[in-house]
Amino acid sequence: MAYWLAQSVILAGFFSMAHEAGHGTLSPYRWVNNLIGFCLHTFVLCPYFAWRASHRQHHQAAMSLERDENYIPRTRSHFKLPSESTARIVDYHDMFDETPIYMLGRMLFMQTFGWYAYMFANARGSPRYPRGTNHFSPYSAIFKPSERSGIIISDAGLIFMITVLYMWAMSVGTSYFVKLYFIPYLVMNHWVVMLTYLHHTDPTIPEYRAKQWTFLRGALSTVDRPLLGWAGRFFLHNVSHDHISHHLFSSTPFYNQPLITEHIKKVLKDDYNYDSSNTFRALYRTFTQCRFIEDTGDIVFFKNRNGQTTRALALDAFDNPPDIVLVPLEKNKTK
Ligand SMILES: *[C@@H]1O[C@H](CO)[C@@H](O)[C@H](O)[C@H]1NC(C)=O
Repeated sequence: MAYWLAQSVILAGFFSMAHEAGHGTLSPYRWVNNLIGFCLHTFVLCPYFAWRASHRQHHQAAMSLERDENYIPRTRSHFKLPSESTARIVDYHDMFDETPIYMLGRMLFMQTFGWYAYMFANARGSPRYPRGTNHFSPYSAIFKPSERSGIIISDAGLIFMITVLYMWAMSVGTSYFVKLYFIPYLVMNHWVVMLTYLHHTDPTIPEYRAKQWTFLRGALSTVDRPLLGWAGRFFLHNVSHDHISHHLFSSTPFYNQPLITEHIKKVLKDDYNYDSSNTFRALYRTFTQCRFIEDTGDIVFFKNRNGQTTRALALDAFDNPPDIVLVPLEKNKTK
């Protein structure tokens, strides 16, 4: 079990390092970045070019309810709850009350299958994509025509890696394969889901609809967390410790991000989102308290099982509408 734990964190480190490569920060040469990223991601069965493409969109539209790529919150209408003015507390409890064992099951489901649900079916992905959107078809709505060859290369990489794993399992025995690769790989998926989920989901941070969304606001709706403590600093090279700086300056290599964090803290002061909680506690809190958002409103917070938010908008929130829109809206690619 110690091996499984250690190896899963190391594999999550491979994932994060390939993520860096996808941002082009490991080398000034694009092909070096792509080679490193492709090899590391393929080794952990992630389609490098496909994920890089959707991840770029995520950076361009972080926290936009229309255009962000992952963990899009569910809404009041999704749960068929009565309207805000008529809903009683029992309506919320009818929908959200659950036994601890059911809650645990839901959480385990997300941590185990969340990655596949996103890869194969765009689960909790951008609502602008049609049904059937996935990370493997070169014709998926996620990808631009110029990205299609990369998607085929990622797929070929996965087929190659699965073949290698299969042949290896056949020669050393399935149980050896399960113990050495498969279990650490599953636990790695859990770390990847956990860290990506926690970067932008928290009861205290706002989500935006088009009228109020700006690149800057989206980037600042990120939470820095001491994920896995020193192990996260070392093996995941601060991917969660310095995630706000990563969103503001994503072309900066990971080893310079801690320095940027020091500086943005001074600028943002109280608006710097840092959650010092233990990572598992944070996961539990976010998972249990971030239940749904309202269907309307241009700046919204998550509501909990009582239909309440943790924070409310200031009365003058809309007096100073954002005047900087740094990233142009992308053409709507939905067919
Ligand atoms: C993570 O941040 C710490 C603190 O700033 C720094 O000492 C360390 O070198 C960073 N880790 C990596 C792998 O860059």
